[in-house]
Amino acid sequence: QIGVLRTGGLALAVGGDRVARLLHRPWRLDPYPVYRDLRAAQIAPGGGPVRSRTGITAVATHASCAAVLRDRRFGVRLADGRRRMDEGGAGGAAAAVFEPVDLSLLTLDPPDHTRLRRLAQPAFSPHRLVEYRAVAEDVAARLLDEALARDRREGRFDLVRDLASPLPITVISALLAVPAVDRERFARWGRVLGSALDGVRSPAHARQLADSTADLRELFGGLLELRRREPGDDVVSALATAVDDGGATVDEVLALAQLLLVAGFETTTNLIGNAVRALLAEPGQWRALTGDPSLAAAAVEETLRFDPPVQLTARVAHEDTEVDGVPIRRDHGVLVLLGAAGRDPAAHRDPDRFDVRRARTSAHLAFSSGAHYCLGAPLARLEAEVALRLLAERAPRLRVAGRAVPRVATVLRGPLRFPVSAGA
Ligand code: HEM
Repeated sequence: QIGVLRTGGLALAVGGDRVARLLHRPWRLDPYPVYRDLRAAQIAPGGGPVRSRTGITAVATHASCAAVLRDRRFGVRLADGRRRMDEGGAGGAAAAVFEPVDLSLLTLDPPDHTRLRRLAQPAFSPHRLVEYRAVAEDVAARLLDEALARDRREGRFDLVRDLASPLPITVISALLAVPAVDRERFARWGRVLGSALDGVRSPAHARQLADSTADLRELFGGLLELRRREPGDDVVSALATAVDDGGATVDEVLALAQLLLVAGFETTTNLIGNAVRALLAEPGQWRALTGDPSLAAAAVEETLRFDPPVQLTARVAHEDTEVDGVPIRRDHGVLVLLGAAGRDPAAHRDPDRFDVRRARTSAHLAFSSGAHYCLGAPLARLEAEVALRLLAERAPRLRVAGRAVPRVATVLRGPLRFPVSAGA
């Protein structure tokens, strides 16, 4: 039986074998034993990265994941630049197109990728990050006031609904200079489109994505027009200028703005959710953070290694090559298991232990590596750090107050709901 494993830009067929377990519900809820098994097979004498019967190869060690991500012989499209594999083409459905949402950079190879990535880069300059920090601190403090008031009334609040989800969307609204009146709709579309990072589940899901895309294009189209007439000091103005200078088409900049919303929303929500879950699962870890809230940044890095919000990505070989001794044919897909890399004992001592005091936790692949390295990494880090520090300072007796509801997905990982109480 063939199943399709979808990442943001690619759909990879896997079937009836060890790699395909990643599609099954119990392993979606806890994929780490599957990763361990795939890694063991990869490093066994005479072994190598495990290949699915469909031709997809899964890489599960830190070194091999990093090598594929940094290797220019791999891209996110087929070697000839197309995105769709013809029926019966090499590798079966090894790579296929993802239609309803244009995920811009995530689906582009150089030179288009290089040109458009340059346009988005100024949105993450150091002086911009200082501004975003102020916004994040302000928003997080206000959200936590409301959450703690709810906690006093109801005996608990929902970490995801009340803090982890609204925080990133408000910061991205500021980044894209979305007017206050449009922010609620913007958040709703963001939630729908964010699910695109995990692939399209059904025709109904595809329609929902297409509708939200159309609405969002209208909003961004209006913003772009406004900034064309009255340029400001924001990323949308820079995109409008690029269109006027012939550096990009309107479609390209609309997709780029949409990607900034999609890529920065659920991912950051999951990071905050996964961090609090791991911290509360080990009383000593939460105590370490409340005793020294400056450990918040280290706790964020440790979460990115231990339980990353984006578990995997994929690449397509642009020429016949090999990984760890296993040949990979041109146009065949490689599954890069970012979540497995963080648990590789060859890269991290005692990898299944969550420890905020771990030395050098930043050597993980949670933000990918190479040409597609996450543009928003500094922003994600600062938002999560602000949230954790504030929680540790203002709710030092935080505890789990009900059953968390996990997301059942292969790419994104994190709680959908997480009841907690400040225990005051
Ligand atoms: C790309 C993870 C937050 C914007 C990526 C990729 C990963 C990732 C793994 C690369 C995928 C690949 O190599 O195929 C994360 C995680 C986040 C996060 C775990 C939060 C914890 C953000 C934020 C933004 C953002 C806050 C912006 C507002 C982007 C963009 C790309 C990207 C634009 C595409 C880069 C390219 O293709 O050149 N992210 N991300 N991300 N991320 Fe993030």
